[in-house]
Amino acid sequence: MTNFNNTPDRRKNINITKWSYYGKDVLPMWVADMDFPAPKPILDELHKRIDHGVMGYEIPARPLQEIAAARMDRLYRWKVDPDAVRVVTGIVSGFSVAARAFCSPKKGVAMQTPVYNEFHEVKNNVGIPQIDIPLVKNIKGNILKYEIDWDLFEKRVKKAGMFLLCNPHNPLGIIFSRKELTRMAEICIRNDVLIVSDEIHSELILGENKFTPMAKLSREIEKHVITLVSPSKTFNVPGLFCGFAIIPDKELRDRYTTELEHLRLHVGSMGLHAAYVGFSGKCDGWLRDLNRYLTGNRDFLVDYVTKYMPNVRTTIPDATYLGWLDFTQTEIEGSPFEFFKEKAKVALSEGKIFGKEGAGHTRINFGTSRAILKEGLDKMRKAMESI
Ligand SMILES: Cc1ncc(COP(=O)(O)O)c(C=O)c1O
Repeated sequence: MTNFNNTPDRRKNINITKWSYYGKDVLPMWVADMDFPAPKPILDELHKRIDHGVMGYEIPARPLQEIAAARMDRLYRWKVDPDAVRVVTGIVSGFSVAARAFCSPKKGVAMQTPVYNEFHEVKNNVGIPQIDIPLVKNIKGNILKYEIDWDLFEKRVKKAGMFLLCNPHNPLGIIFSRKELTRMAEICIRNDVLIVSDEIHSELILGENKFTPMAKLSREIEKHVITLVSPSKTFNVPGLFCGFAIIPDKELRDRYTTELEHLRLHVGSMGLHAAYVGFSGKCDGWLRDLNRYLTGNRDFLVDYVTKYMPNVRTTIPDATYLGWLDFTQTEIEGSPFEFFKEKAKVALSEGKIFGKEGAGHTRINFGTSRAILKEGLDKMRKAMESI
């Protein structure tokens, strides 16, 4: 069993953005990476590369496509032809390439807000309209649940060239059900809208939840989907930048590949090797332990908020290590992100970066030891009590 209670002394990692950006006196619970070292098989592989010493160019090789396809089969019984797999520099570049290839000033990108801040950059990077389809907030006691407004979904998505789905959803932690995915896919196909499914968090599954890739639903749906997966969140190697675009339909794949090749987005050899080992299955025991630990952290967070933070609402994420907190009913004036940064010395993620619905909310990263999570929550609680 991996012991996730012991995180390395993070203050020594001065070049890690999470721990350096807001200064040494601020506890970081913001950007989406974890405080745990990557699993040993990945570290061993990287050590081997370094010990060899020669750091030459490395073009992604066929075995990498095969290992990514094999992982989809092993996890979901989704049969993917290795030829359908493209290696990308990361998932953000992966969906940006799709937007360049399939959107236009008349046919923009649709997304379910509040959603991952980089989704909101696509419109600027590519020069296309953004079409927001807000999820609807449902409140029971202090628990938040977000749901799809289907009439709004159809009305808005049909104006898009591409629907950028975030599943599991960042920051809301939702795993969409097969029924919801099927309905979304049918609407997109009926309206000739390409689906790009960002599934970067798909292996960080909490409790007994189950994940289904959008493209696994049927062979017909698969033809309209570009699936983006990556080892970066799963094995905590986001700084190595390597991901996969899985595109079963040949015509879509050719258009995507042309754009990808024009942009010359190459992957570093450390990223390629980490991805190979991560997807090979050698780290799956570590991953099971991690998911159990993160489930404990999620439960700790929800219990803590419920017991000690009156009027604060929280999601119960199905996946990811990201919580979403609603401070709109508290006495905090202005941005809760600024409040906690100044008064608690805790850096969360500002809710508004995920869309305008995020005002008065923050995202909290619980991908850390239980002790650090408690330390952050205690600081936040104290700051709220001092109002
Ligand atoms: C939904 C989602 N997609 C993509 C990324 C980043 O992907 P990459 O670093 O591979 O570009 C993140 C990181 O937080 C994310 O949450």
